[in-house]
Amino acid sequence: MRGALLHAVGDDKLDIRDDFTLAPVGPTDVRVKIKATGVCHSDLSVLSGVLPMPLPVIPGHEGAGEVVEVGDHVTSVQPGDHVIINWTPACGDCAHCIGGQPHLCMTFVMKSFTDARFRYGGDTPAFGMAGCGTWAEEIVVPWQGAIKVDPDVPYEAAALIGCGITTGVGAAINTAKVRPGSTVAVVGCGGVGLSVIQGARLSGASTILAIDPLESKHELAKKVGATHAITPDQLMDAIGTLTGGQGFDYGFEVVGKSAAIMTAWQATRRGGDVVIVGAGAMDDTVPLTAFNLLFEGKNILSSLYGGSDVRHDFPFFAGLYKAGKLDLESMISARIKLADLNDAVAALKNGEVLRQIVVID
Ligand SMILES: NC(=O)c1ccc[n+]([C@@H]2O[C@H](COP(=O)([O-])OP(=O)(O)OC[C@H]3O[C@@H](n4cnc5c(N)ncnc54)[C@H](O)[C@@H]3O)[C@@H](O)[C@H]2O)c1
Ligand SMILES: [Zn+2]
Ligand SMILES: [Zn+2]
Repeated sequence: MRGALLHAVGDDKLDIRDDFTLAPVGPTDVRVKIKATGVCHSDLSVLSGVLPMPLPVIPGHEGAGEVVEVGDHVTSVQPGDHVIINWTPACGDCAHCIGGQPHLCMTFVMKSFTDARFRYGGDTPAFGMAGCGTWAEEIVVPWQGAIKVDPDVPYEAAALIGCGITTGVGAAINTAKVRPGSTVAVVGCGGVGLSVIQGARLSGASTILAIDPLESKHELAKKVGATHAITPDQLMDAIGTLTGGQGFDYGFEVVGKSAAIMTAWQATRRGGDVVIVGAGAMDDTVPLTAFNLLFEGKNILSSLYGGSDVRHDFPFFAGLYKAGKLDLESMISARIKLADLNDAVAALKNGEVLRQIVVID
């Protein structure tokens, strides 16, 4: 089967090849035929090394497809079911899972560094990003990594729910618990930032400021719910006119850079919440002093995978989509083929695109 392989961090091209095979389906595994998969900035971060993965690796973690085979012990899905891939499957047994934070489960994250589920060129092993690797025609994942979804939801929309929507809308609804009438600033208006904006809109925020250096992103940010849009250098003026100089109740960082975290910090009022959604590098230090951290009275919240329990949230977001409350169509800037992934990666690096969705027939 076909897939896109990264041999080494920093390679300028993915190796798109047709000779991948899969590990056999174990008793608790599910084999999924991928029908749609997105290009998220986290995929770029695997290519650049910002997100460390075992190599060689098939990127891709935002995906949806059809179950084609299940292990003997699997009861949650059966062949023919439509599923969304969960890139942090929850084991159900560890302290995080039992404590109600399944998005922090490390069980399968650790396994993804040792279990190479793909083979190519005969018998050379290859890993899947976060244990998934949705930039391949088929994948094998633990049953917790394939969540059943209403077949009425198109695969493209289901794929977006697999990362961007759950991460962004979840950050607003689950992590920040944005209150009706509140003021929200969102730093970074890619696929995930637009999802935060939609979550803030759904939560009833009265002012939603989109912040992105690329003016081309502003119009779409407004289309999905932002009330205002600026470039980062206009922030102080916006704080003055939109919040009377106080700052916003919530500042979301959705870029993955310390500079953007500082923009979100500056945007947030005393006592407000600074929500970290972007996935930054291990050596990118945020210049906040001990004095800032106490006396500005701001709360820094981490929002991994939207703080979601995807067993609840995937169907929940699918329901919001079906009810016309989530605009997923506006977030798709192109429908492409697996063979186009190198161009898609280059386009996302340039920043002018939103979600590009690989559609596999
Ligand atoms: N927390 C999670 O679980 C999770 C899940 C998925 C993605 N992410 C991360 O979220 C981030 C955003 O992902 P995406 O797919 O939306 O990315 P994207 O590349 O589509 O969008 C990023 C946007 O940020 C803008 N930007 C760049 N520098 C900026 C700055 N200094 N200030 C304001 N805006 C700036 C860019 O112009 C672009 O519009 C990435 O770091 C990604 O890895 C995190
Ligand atoms: Zn993602
Ligand atoms: Zn667990």
